[in-house]
Amino acid sequence: MNQNKLIQKNNTTLLRPATVIIVDDDPENVDSIEDILVDQNYKIYKAYDGEQALKKIDTIEPDLILLDAIMPKVNGFEVAKKLKTNANTRLIPIIMVTALEGMEDRLEGFEAGVDDFISKPVNVFELRARIRNLVKLREYVGELENAEHVIFSLARAVEAKDKYTEDHCGRMANFAQVLGKKLGLNDYDLKIIYQGAYLHDIGKIGITDTILLKPGPLTKDEFEIVKRHPIEGEEICKPLKSLKPVLPIIRYHHERFNGSGYPEGLQGEDIPYLARLIGVVDCYDSLTTKRPYRDALPREDALNVIHSETEQGMWDPSIVKVLDDIINHNHR
Ligand SMILES: [Fe+2]
Repeated sequence: MNQNKLIQKNNTTLLRPATVIIVDDDPENVDSIEDILVDQNYKIYKAYDGEQALKKIDTIEPDLILLDAIMPKVNGFEVAKKLKTNANTRLIPIIMVTALEGMEDRLEGFEAGVDDFISKPVNVFELRARIRNLVKLREYVGELENAEHVIFSLARAVEAKDKYTEDHCGRMANFAQVLGKKLGLNDYDLKIIYQGAYLHDIGKIGITDTILLKPGPLTKDEFEIVKRHPIEGEEICKPLKSLKPVLPIIRYHHERFNGSGYPEGLQGEDIPYLARLIGVVDCYDSLTTKRPYRDALPREDALNVIHSETEQGMWDPSIVKVLDDIINHNHR
């Protein structure tokens, strides 16, 4: 069958046959599951222990794994744990096919990252249905990941234009994590500021290099163009639902606590908290990085600039206080 041909089978629509690997140390079990799936348009691979499975999964990148729990060498729980902690394989759904009935084993499986369980002896219809659902889900997540990947590559492309800001986003992302943790942010918000650090300037993609890389001060008109980048950036990321929580950071990272920023001139706590945080981190990283018109400032000098700007009302004092703690604690 043509791999690219749209296949309709059992109410599911796949763009290509999904690849399924059956992992079990008992060849009879492998064969009986294969028999159940043989007419379902899956491309089937087989492995007979955990070690072999990990090697094969690395090369074939399956869409789903049917995994036995108890196997020699590397058991199913360990296989699951390894796959779910590896960025390349963590999204592959795993169904554990097991005779284990105990709740504890199931819990161990879930903790290892197993997505679903099926008990032996396998019910044909149940197995087919669960595989179909997880493969479909995998397809959706894959599409989402691809779209996000494109957006993040775009952000990298913007950054790469300016050799003076090289890895500005990476440094910001790491520093924002340190600052965010000290400020008591939860894991969810830490993830959002990490993404925000990478995406905050993505709207600069629309600004010409003559303005973006201009060594001297900008004219009034040029600055008006630069000031559009938070809104342009928000527009670029808006179609991706998964990036919705990051949009306020992108839109408001140039707002200032006293209302002197842009695009809206928001003031104080009207500026979303994570945007205020990224604003401070952005400023600190710019000051400590070499620019075409000045050298990088030493940390203490950069901090002094931020303190005096805080006195003028530009930054949230509660965030700057913690920034000060971190810099002084780590570098004095
Ligand atoms: Fe910006």
